[in-house]
Amino acid sequence: MGELNGKILALTGGSKGIGRAAVELFAKEGAAIAMCGRTADTLNRAAKELRERYGATVLPIVADIMDRESVDAFTAEVGETFGRIDMLVNNAGESEQHKSDKIVRPVLSEDPVGASYLPASRFSEMDEKEFQVAFERKFFGMLRVTQSALPWIRKANSGSIVNITSTKGIQPGPRTATSAIAWAACMNWTQGLSLELGPENIRINIVSVGGIVTPNLMSAYERWGKGMSEEEYFLPRTQNVPLQRLGTAEEVAEAIYFLASPRGGYVTGQCVATDGGGVRVI
Ligand SMILES: NC(=O)c1ccc[n+]([C@@H]2O[C@H](COP(=O)([O-])OP(=O)(O)OC[C@H]3O[C@@H](n4cnc5c(N)ncnc54)[C@H](OP(=O)(O)O)[C@@H]3O)[C@@H](O)[C@H]2O)c1
Repeated sequence: MGELNGKILALTGGSKGIGRAAVELFAKEGAAIAMCGRTADTLNRAAKELRERYGATVLPIVADIMDRESVDAFTAEVGETFGRIDMLVNNAGESEQHKSDKIVRPVLSEDPVGASYLPASRFSEMDEKEFQVAFERKFFGMLRVTQSALPWIRKANSGSIVNITSTKGIQPGPRTATSAIAWAACMNWTQGLSLELGPENIRINIVSVGGIVTPNLMSAYERWGKGMSEEEYFLPRTQNVPLQRLGTAEEVAEAIYFLASPRGGYVTGQCVATDGGGVRVI
């Protein structure tokens, strides 16, 4: 018997990285899992592993958070299968990093200000499309899934939502104008929505992450870190972090679990930075 027996979790992006670690934890505690991703193979493999390991009820659904119809089909299937959604985790997302002609080193979001290899701002080379894409991927993806899932969360009479963002939305680094402002929008929106949903007994919180070792982060290293060791490549992300290392997906999953589950029952409109202490705001 786990502490989440009978509870229903819907999570976007459950096949890899942070989402994969989170569904592991919730399944271990007995929750039924509904999760989406765009790639059937990896999604179904993750579902099979959870069933085998924990005897969990798992509903993998191929869906793309960028597409409203696909999102509505996802939430409808979850709702019709389980009757409600107790916990929603908005995790799915991806980023792209751009290289500028003037940059003598790959773009890293936490490049230390003043480092010798930092070129002049890339801002003057950016077009509006870059900003629109970032908003579409991060803010509208999250908004779309939340709006679509809400009727099913209301049926639970005491739901919770956790939005995964980046600490860049709190403390922007150089050259991250697009994703940083999109994450900031996600966080501002989350806090505002907590006021509206609180009286309905629905909590909504944020887990904002720093550099976390996941397939997403490692693909950036493979792309940009040619000829560099991992330590060298990730140094800008760790040297200003008190814990002096990247985080793990399992560590982020613990924060998600606390906020989404009844353990965080009196917490709403809050942000837990899971970033080794990189953001120093209380
Ligand atoms: N890792 C970090 O250092 C870091 C830092 C800041 C913020 N974040 C944020 O944390 C979240 C998780 O990141 P991660 O590092 O765990 O990423 P990841 O390893 O790439 O995993 C992303 C998951 O989301 C799914 N996904 C991606 N785009 C999707 C879409 N449009 N629709 C549905 N599913 C989608 C992926 O499956 P498919 O590819 O099959 O769709 C996969 O299951 C993301 O929102 C990311 O931006 C991560």
